Amino acid sequence: MTDVIEDGDYVLIFLDGKRNWIRKVMAGEKFHSNKGIIDFDDLIGRPFGIKIESHSGRTFQIHRPSQTDIQVYFARNTQIVYSKDAGIILIEAGISAGSRVIESGTGSGALTWILSQAVGPTGHVYTYEVREDMYNGARKNLAKFADMERITMHQKDITEGIEEENVDAVVLDLATPWLVVDEAHRVLKPSHFFVSYSPTIEQVMKTCKALHERGEWGMVKTIEVLQREILVRENKTRPTTWMVGHTGYITFARALATER
Ligand SMILES: C[S@@+](CC[C@H](N)C(=O)[O-])C[C@H]1O[C@@H](n2cnc3c(N)ncnc32)[C@H](O)[C@@H]1O
Repeated sequence: MTDVIEDGDYVLIFLDGKRNWIRKVMAGEKFHSNKGIIDFDDLIGRPFGIKIESHSGRTFQIHRPSQTDIQVYFARNTQIVYSKDAGIILIEAGISAGSRVIESGTGSGALTWILSQAVGPTGHVYTYEVREDMYNGARKNLAKFADMERITMHQKDITEGIEEENVDAVVLDLATPWLVVDEAHRVLKPSHFFVSYSPTIEQVMKTCKALHERGEWGMVKTIEVLQREILVRENKTRPTTWMVGHTGYITFARALATER
């Protein structure tokens, strides 16, 4: 990955918080918006982070899209796990370079993308999606941005069994996570993390009940992450009026070792 914009790179074309676009740079083509036109040829060979004037005199910033930008750009056929929740999942579950991670459902692939970035070239994400249409949509999204060498996609109901073993984390975002608790324990390395993201308390309760019943899990906890942006302006600095009220609850548990 170079710091110079090349033909075929994706760029974030930023005017302000509301007016910004992700586009693929294509030699000989132009970016059109009602705020002006930018010639892609004027970007190629120049560094990410430049400011550029459109034909109508508006100044745009040109950046490499961040992980959050790309997630939001994904075609979304499902609710996705956004950065505020994805970030804490990575840190709490210790998902980092070299980790082998099971994920389900793949949905739009937004979390798969974040996981694949975190595990790096030496790690791997194995993702399970039961619906063929979702599987195909996610594959399309991921193929644009992710290194597919790091991702194995299964079009399969995860409750029918996980094919990999000795993994570093199991991360779920599906309607019935409690049905995956035993299988997750079977494939997880001892002391490693089960993570379940659920939009409703009822799902959390069923999942925690399953975790506690088995006696195979320790340190079960559920959290919710709230995030609000602060508008910083001279003598008027305050939180924004609007914030994302609720996304999901995240349950973590650690696999207890079964000594023989
Ligand atoms: C909310 S979406 C996941 C979104 C995903 N985390 C993202 O960020 O794009 C839930 C997905 O789980 C899938 N799903 C539900 N039950 C499943 C199962 N038992 N096995 C595999 N996939 C399942 C659904 O088809 C759906 O696509």
